[in-house]
Amino acid sequence: MIISSPNDYRAAAKRRLPPFLFHYIDGGAYEEYTLKHNVEDLSKIALRQRVLNDMSQLSLETQLFDETLSMPVALSPVGLTGMYARRGEVQAAISADQKGIPFTMSTVSVCPIEEVVPKINRPMWFQLYVLKDRGFMKNALERAKAAGCSTLVFTVDMPVPGARYRDMHSGMSGKNAAMRRYFQSVTHPQWAWDVGLNGRPHDLGNISTYLGKPTGLEDYIGWLGNNFDPSISWKDLDWIREYWDGPMVIKGILDPEDAKDAVRFGADGIVVSNHGGRQLDGVLSSARALPPIADAVKGEIKILADSGIRNGLDIVRMLALGADICMLGRAFIYALAADGGAGVSNLLELLDKEIRVAMTLTGAKTIADINSDCLVKLDN
Ligand code: GLV
Repeated sequence: MIISSPNDYRAAAKRRLPPFLFHYIDGGAYEEYTLKHNVEDLSKIALRQRVLNDMSQLSLETQLFDETLSMPVALSPVGLTGMYARRGEVQAAISADQKGIPFTMSTVSVCPIEEVVPKINRPMWFQLYVLKDRGFMKNALERAKAAGCSTLVFTVDMPVPGARYRDMHSGMSGKNAAMRRYFQSVTHPQWAWDVGLNGRPHDLGNISTYLGKPTGLEDYIGWLGNNFDPSISWKDLDWIREYWDGPMVIKGILDPEDAKDAVRFGADGIVVSNHGGRQLDGVLSSARALPPIADAVKGEIKILADSGIRNGLDIVRMLALGADICMLGRAFIYALAADGGAGVSNLLELLDKEIRVAMTLTGAKTIADINSDCLVKLDN
């Protein structure tokens, strides 16, 4: 199929993947209202066109935590990335590295930290959940540090998992799930050969290394599901600092008061995020949550944003609303599933071009120039 835009990768991924995997990445929680609003609210934000400003010299480079990024984007942590393409974390990390942006490894990646880090030049970011098994958290932090990971992305919006009803329909979970996944896999031969057979082991690499035994999809649903910790509060985060002295980003902030708490706690950054609409359906879209958060903490802490970003124009919109950089989850997974690392690299080039056009026509010569002046203020 012909890929001309970032969005084309979604359809290509849908064709190639067994449905349980496509719907796992594509879906959200409950009735998926927030998932839908994330995309729609962002697309409705009007860019302000400005012309005749000599835009021949543009720079997309930006600095974050002593790192230079070739554009204001990082790849989000996505669980099971290695089920979407053969050793998917390695492929995506190499593409991000070649483009000059960070790749964030999920706690529940297929490849372990130690498999990915030697394949890339820039430091990887590492994401951690709050889990009841503090031994695992400590082990993961120590291994991330030993491997030279630069930034910790600490996810705090999953004290309980949101119900993903789509997963029960698709065979990811629910009745006869293992059998349904098997049939879906054998009827998607390209994926079955490339990932199902040749992408093994399908472990949760970081957890297997800790538990000292093979793990798999059942553990993703079981071990992880039983391990989320609803008792977590800000004071519990202090001990993380004992094991992590690098930049720490709190992921899952949607309210200005929580953003101020993150500043008081001493975090280096926050990710304004509703987990891609995968947790509490009905909360504000990131695009609507971001401006009051930026009013409250911009300049005191780095603001990263995700949820609903599907193209380069969305990246410029999020920056204009107050983000310092954007994180991409689904967008890069669709590309990875469709065409492996080549898909991710091509996606990043498409985004680069789209950001350039948006900057040229809003009069922003540098990333720092992208602000609310690049938007038209509408009533709603
Ligand atoms: C995990 O973080 C998920 O959203 O499935």
